[in-house]
Amino acid sequence: MPLAIPQTPTIGAEIQGLDLRQKISAANVDWLIEQLVRFKVIFFRDQNIDAEAHLRFAREFGQLETHPVNPKENFPELLVLHHHADNPPSGTAVWHSDVTWRKSPSLGSILIARQVPTVGGDTLFADMEAAYAYLDEKTRHEVSELQAIHQFAPMRRHLIKSGANAERLAKFDSAYPPVLHPVVRTHPVSGRKSLYVNELFTVGIKDVPQDRARPLLTKLFATATRPEIQCRFRWQKHSIAFWDNRACQHYATADYYPHERLMERATIEGTPPY
Ligand code: OGA
Ligand code: MN
Repeated sequence: MPLAIPQTPTIGAEIQGLDLRQKISAANVDWLIEQLVRFKVIFFRDQNIDAEAHLRFAREFGQLETHPVNPKENFPELLVLHHHADNPPSGTAVWHSDVTWRKSPSLGSILIARQVPTVGGDTLFADMEAAYAYLDEKTRHEVSELQAIHQFAPMRRHLIKSGANAERLAKFDSAYPPVLHPVVRTHPVSGRKSLYVNELFTVGIKDVPQDRARPLLTKLFATATRPEIQCRFRWQKHSIAFWDNRACQHYATADYYPHERLMERATIEGTPPY
């Protein structure tokens, strides 16, 4: 029987007793889903699996997404995050949940470390159900019915910075139009509420002018930074983190430049948040 060892009272558990080179039994898949929903992120150590086994494991939990940038050669469903002296870490050193610019953001991601610096490059996770629970009564009431606007903003900024013309931008905007998601979402499995706005992709609130939306969003983004709702994962080569993208946010510390860090991510399709 595998074991789940909690890493903090609220978020994170290390799974022991599973070898991901082997096919996981249906009973263990169900058990892992339970642990994922309960702990929001689960960790594995020393899983020296190849890309095929990584994808096979991820497919136990649903269909996989293809990210529009940085696919692994021959494995379009694997996203490569590779940082080194010529490509400083940065983009994911902001609290976020993944791909909330999609109508159906992912259920979860399974990230494996292929190369890690000797020290640094930890990933932090924040329990957004706990973040919601910490809101004061007045704020909880204020945000309960709001819809937030999410956009693939970093990519859009990158295009603008690299001098994209209006036509190119218009093309991008029609491929990735802004989408609306509830500020407070309900977990489709547990029924628990969580705060669902993030600093990387949430750009406004529907029907609220920016001069009021910005300060509210800034306050809501900051909830992820409370240490009481976080855990911090120190990677080793062949460690895996599998997070429930519906219930937590994450932050990749950018403290290891100029050392190399190479990660590969399989991403499981989700359903529209409600
Ligand atoms: C991601 C991400 C975190 C990391 O894969 O979605 O944000 O630690 N990565 O590399
Ligand atoms: Mn991410």
